[in-house]
Amino acid sequence: MAVFRVGENIFVLETESFQYVLGVGSDGLLRHLHWGEKVQAKDFEIKVFDDINSNHSYLDVICQEYSPFGGKLFRDCAFKCQFSDGVRDAVFTFKDYSISDNTLKILLCDVHYQLEAELLYTVYADCNVIGRKAVIRNTGGNSILCEKIMSAELSFPEKCEYEIINSNGTWCGENQIVKQHLSGGSISFESRKGTSAHGNAPFFIANPCSENSEKVLFGVLEYSGNFKVTVSRDGFGVTRAMLGVNDFDFSVSLKSGEEFSAPWVYFGCSESLNEVSRIMNRFALKHIFPEQFREKPLPVLYNSWEATGFDVTAESQKELAEKAAEAGVELFVTDDGWFGERKDDFAGLGDWYVNKEKFPNGLSELITHVNELGMDFGLWIEPEMVNPDSNLYRAHPDWIYNFKTRTPSLMRNQLVLNLTKPQVKEFVFDFIDRLLGENNIKYIKWDMNRPFSEPGAENLENGKELWFLHTMAVYDIVDRLKKKYPETQFESCASGGGRCDYGAFRHFDEVWTSDNTDPVDRIEIQNGYALVNPTKAMRAWVTDVSAAPVSFKFNIAMQGALGIGMNLFSCDKETLALMREYVTLYKEYRDVIQFGDRYALMNLKDHMLNAVEFVNEKKNKAIVFVAAVHTKCMHRYFKVKLKGLDADSRYLVQIGEKKFQKSGSYLMNAGIERYFYGDYKNEIWTVNKISD
Ligand code: DGJ
Repeated sequence: MAVFRVGENIFVLETESFQYVLGVGSDGLLRHLHWGEKVQAKDFEIKVFDDINSNHSYLDVICQEYSPFGGKLFRDCAFKCQFSDGVRDAVFTFKDYSISDNTLKILLCDVHYQLEAELLYTVYADCNVIGRKAVIRNTGGNSILCEKIMSAELSFPEKCEYEIINSNGTWCGENQIVKQHLSGGSISFESRKGTSAHGNAPFFIANPCSENSEKVLFGVLEYSGNFKVTVSRDGFGVTRAMLGVNDFDFSVSLKSGEEFSAPWVYFGCSESLNEVSRIMNRFALKHIFPEQFREKPLPVLYNSWEATGFDVTAESQKELAEKAAEAGVELFVTDDGWFGERKDDFAGLGDWYVNKEKFPNGLSELITHVNELGMDFGLWIEPEMVNPDSNLYRAHPDWIYNFKTRTPSLMRNQLVLNLTKPQVKEFVFDFIDRLLGENNIKYIKWDMNRPFSEPGAENLENGKELWFLHTMAVYDIVDRLKKKYPETQFESCASGGGRCDYGAFRHFDEVWTSDNTDPVDRIEIQNGYALVNPTKAMRAWVTDVSAAPVSFKFNIAMQGALGIGMNLFSCDKETLALMREYVTLYKEYRDVIQFGDRYALMNLKDHMLNAVEFVNEKKNKAIVFVAAVHTKCMHRYFKVKLKGLDADSRYLVQIGEKKFQKSGSYLMNAGIERYFYGDYKNEIWTVNKISD
């Protein structure tokens, strides 16, 4: 059983490889007791003690599962509110619990006010992941203003210092890994832009700095809006993480009977950083992605953006589509520029009707052509936005977020639509519904190209709720559309990877990783992405950016869901044929890449070589992408040790024309040695089991 109670007051959550234990003390406080190797839970004793001295309260010292601001808590809290009588102090004690299937629900209630905090824990035993979240409920008659509602508070098992890992990126430079040693104080990662954005990411990984082999800890938030992840280490050596909706410019007014359900956090622990990536990859494939395409491989797509920009016409797109089909593409996507008066980024957003000059016969002429070429058709939209130069804005200038005494700031000449207004939300749903209903569209690229500013929503009683409500509105629209059009895939894009998180993976089928398609930059962007994010969803294109050879570009782009964004008009026959070869190889190994385990074998920074391996579940098929940007004298011999194979089985390795057989143990422990000389050297190795 994955969830059980021991004695009266101990609750045990168990996955295949680790245990998480909590318990209720005689003071009624819910404590965190254990996170790590399995132990006999009946041995836990919950100590109730008084303040250590006049400066350090017991509340600051004990590890609660969910600490409200109240009483003698002076450290960071998971929850903060104000009751209608002005009291800003909450005291939660244990009230009740229930266990059903793999879920434990613990009910905490305030000792005076009718305020509940229900903590939910769901165990995904075979994935070695536990999900948890908090639901805050007002069961009384008066409103309660909640100013901070974290999804989870996680107390780390060891008193050692930890290296905290996240990313610190920008537009075109997403997923730049940062590792910070936390000896004391706090490190926060957050977004204040309306989406999870390009900067920090909604997760943490904590690598123990210890002589003992303590476990690597991780927590990932399922949310695409303003988030906050804080990791703090106190003077007693205890490290805690809080994950949830950002409390910056946030509050929720809970009226009588209302509740706020915080987003899920998924957490666990593992032997290595690399294994964290595999745990979360398997978990996303099994439990996160929308069901329609969960088990289906994603198609190889072509996207028009880098070839034609806004200059899309039926004729040019048809011609591109013909070339794309020759390269073996399965899904042809027309990007920005097909609608309204969209000649550049100054106009058109909001006017979601086909531009008749560019497409005199509507989209159907292009779609029919694409379908006749044997490909599906996909379309770009940016539903949350409006250009002031659009019919939509001229008709509804009040549909945007703004403060009435302020001039709304433009970014990329556009404004954010107020999706918390029901009529705006319905407008968005309706136009996409119409597009999908009238056309054979099998894929939607949902873009979002600017952060929110002047975040006013005069329609809301509490304007600070708009950040959360906006994100929920996006999810709701996508969910409804996916239900109505189950054969259409949705991609989450926000100026590249600005909405690339577990909230996106829950509602969309894939994400656009970055607007930076330079294959060298992509190596780091993709490696950072892979820390906790699933391979299958990571769209990666081969484009004309960079002077790297086509082989190098494919080597990098094939490590995700392959796409092509080259200007195929200027592509000669030989290049098209070469592209087709890579696309064919990709299709042959796509299941291994999109559904298999990813091993980061070597990286550019430490080894001057990027080596990434994917192995399928049966361990009988693997593919390895090896690439060096530049090789230096005396550093041209590389030994790459594979991982994840059956030690005793024999494998056929193919590198170009060269073929040889080796045992799994040899490939993993002795490795493959190669000599690389020059720039952009790269190889793709295929590894297939030939006998057990
Ligand atoms: C930003 C996206 O990331 C690009 O791929 C492209 O779709 C442009 N927007 C179009 O405006």
